[in-house]
Amino acid sequence: MGLLSESLARVKPSPTIAVTTRAAELKAEGRDVIGLGAGEPDFDTPDNIKEAAIKAIRDGKTKYTPPDGIPELKKAICAKFARENGLSYEPAQISVGTGGKQVLYNALIATLNPGDEVLIPAPYWVSYPDMVLRRDGTPKIIETGVETAFKVSPEALEAAITPATKWLIFNSPSNPSGAGYSRDEMKAITDVLMRHEHVWLMTDDMYEHIAYPPFEFVTPAQVEPGLYERTLTVNGVSKAYAMTGWRIGYAGGPKEIIAAMRKVQSQSTSNPCSISQWAAVEALTGPQDFLAERAAAFQRRRDLVVSMLNQATGIECPVPEGAFYVYPSIRGLIGKTAADGTVIENDEVFCTKLLETEEVAAVFGAAFGTSPNFRVSYATSDTALEEACSRIQRFAASLS
Ligand SMILES: Cc1ncc(COP(=O)(O)O)c(C=O)c1O
Repeated sequence: MGLLSESLARVKPSPTIAVTTRAAELKAEGRDVIGLGAGEPDFDTPDNIKEAAIKAIRDGKTKYTPPDGIPELKKAICAKFARENGLSYEPAQISVGTGGKQVLYNALIATLNPGDEVLIPAPYWVSYPDMVLRRDGTPKIIETGVETAFKVSPEALEAAITPATKWLIFNSPSNPSGAGYSRDEMKAITDVLMRHEHVWLMTDDMYEHIAYPPFEFVTPAQVEPGLYERTLTVNGVSKAYAMTGWRIGYAGGPKEIIAAMRKVQSQSTSNPCSISQWAAVEALTGPQDFLAERAAAFQRRRDLVVSMLNQATGIECPVPEGAFYVYPSIRGLIGKTAADGTVIENDEVFCTKLLETEEVAAVFGAAFGTSPNFRVSYATSDTALEEACSRIQRFAASLS
């Protein structure tokens, strides 16, 4: 009998973390690497949030809390859902976890049985399929492409639904493509789900506040109230409030699933860090003006990166509505040869050669389920982005 579980054997380590680690190793060797792999804002956590955490420590808020969140935070989350999304939840409908990642994982652990199918539009956040596999569920990938700006069509969704479908995992704006669904596009998706009553919707709204006008963020249960009873709305403070290390994510949904998620969490990690919870209360109830300011800074960087990448030979970069990623196609470079004779057979080879030759670290598209593409995170300084894009242009032009 082997030591390791069979379901774990199917799970891959996160490729985005692998790229970030490799870039850090090369930097430590003295190489001039520009990392475009990071999945976190380069801004710092605002001072009022840090102060709230320091106060929590001083006030002795350092003990166990209820497993899925303190009442004050649940209340702040209910107020946030009402204020920003027009969604009415009561505290018993809220679950707080150690990051959005744990909340998503809890929901899948709480609901999946072996063989249940989970629909995941590609390109997808790397963790979705692996989390489903960890629970012996079956990820069913719905392909999209550069032609549809990486958005899933209602027809493709309809065709993917079977009697075994348990969930659709939906993420707008998306990691890795940045694609954001407009109200009409979202309605077309929710209309399909309204016709299939057995399908639940897990919406990952982590990038809600990193969205660029004229695009307006909407969440599915807001667009189609008829889906409220079978929607889990997941969000968190990591990206919006630059709090990735604090590890606070949350969800609103039907009481039954929230209670099941509490059970999962109470038998694994118990409560998320008490101090981080108080910091999250301040994040959600304190000043919100900086959110738009930071989004405007990200939008400027998006425009810079999209424009420079579209000037590179063989690269086509759609203009995404949000998040801090672009996901260009490199179809025009596949089959070309690098200076050392390496044939660019796929996006993984492209990214490896880009790192070796021009010292730019980006994540290959196959990691997110759509090729040939690569993901650029522009959560870094304008100077670094300009230099990185010039290097990518030079690398693309060097291929013959
Ligand atoms: C789409 C998406 N969902 C969820 C998460 C997880 O967020 P957290 O850091 O709060 O666990 C991430 C983080 O990269 C993400 O990109």
